[in-house]
Amino acid sequence: MSDIRTRAADGVLTITLARPAKKNAITDAMYGDLVAALTLARDDAGIVAVLIEAEGEDFCAGNDISMFAAASSGERDIAESNTGPFLEALTTFPKPIVAAVTGRAIGIGVTMLLHCDLVYVAEHAQLRTPFIDLGLVPEAASALTVPARIGHVRAFALFALGETLSGAEAAAIGIANRALPANGVREAATAAARAIAAKPLSALIATKKLMRDAPAIAAALEADRDAFIAQLKTPEAAAAFAAFAARKK
Ligand code: COA
Repeated sequence: MSDIRTRAADGVLTITLARPAKKNAITDAMYGDLVAALTLARDDAGIVAVLIEAEGEDFCAGNDISMFAAASSGERDIAESNTGPFLEALTTFPKPIVAAVTGRAIGIGVTMLLHCDLVYVAEHAQLRTPFIDLGLVPEAASALTVPARIGHVRAFALFALGETLSGAEAAAIGIANRALPANGVREAATAAARAIAAKPLSALIATKKLMRDAPAIAAALEADRDAFIAQLKTPEAAAAFAAFAARKK
């Protein structure tokens, strides 16, 4: 495994993003391991729920920007990466997913939460989706899921103005169930995942299926994948990735 750790206990598969030195930014290898973990959880009848958490103070700084930069310059083809299979595995995952967001969440660190079923967040966490500042478009079907959850104008402010949501605000507008002191987030999420794991699995799966508009999510995913790949190749995106790489020099 790369910088992803997994642990199964009490019917819950806990998946930990474990790259704290890079704020848990997700590399291609990590996406590959996430696909493997979700597939295992889907197929193992003993796993009822998945808990996604992260090591260190931050939840996830999004996609590793060096991967975007390589796709932007034509060095690699992002369509061949593990990103697509990860999004497919996440958005079609049939069992409940619980998330514990202890600190900053950016990009996919936020958009993945819209595919989770229970979300616990630190009050002072910061959630940002600065896709437009990066010359990109919202991914992971978030152009559908975020406005559906919080309304068009608030979603547009997140995407276009790059506004930051605190954990408390995220809970108030329905992106998270509860905002808690940072040191209580994992505990609350673990308790919720264990409570879910004690419920009848077939009823959970059937309920999640009834609650999600799977064809709409699949269509949104396909549409944003094409738009995202096109935007990666623009000069604006290349300039944003170069600025990130150069910011400390
Ligand atoms: N991709 C690759 N590396 C990343 C990263 C990302 N998305 N986010 C953070 N890192 C790396 C930094 O390059 C740095 O590496 P270094 O120590 O080798 O220089 C390390 O993680 C720590 O980040 P740093 O920026 O020093 O920490 P900070 O506390 O000042 O800021 C963030 C943290 C997350 C706010 C900032 O790193 C950031 O804005 N990252 C980019 C987020 C982003 O735009 N993601 C893509 C969304 S689509």
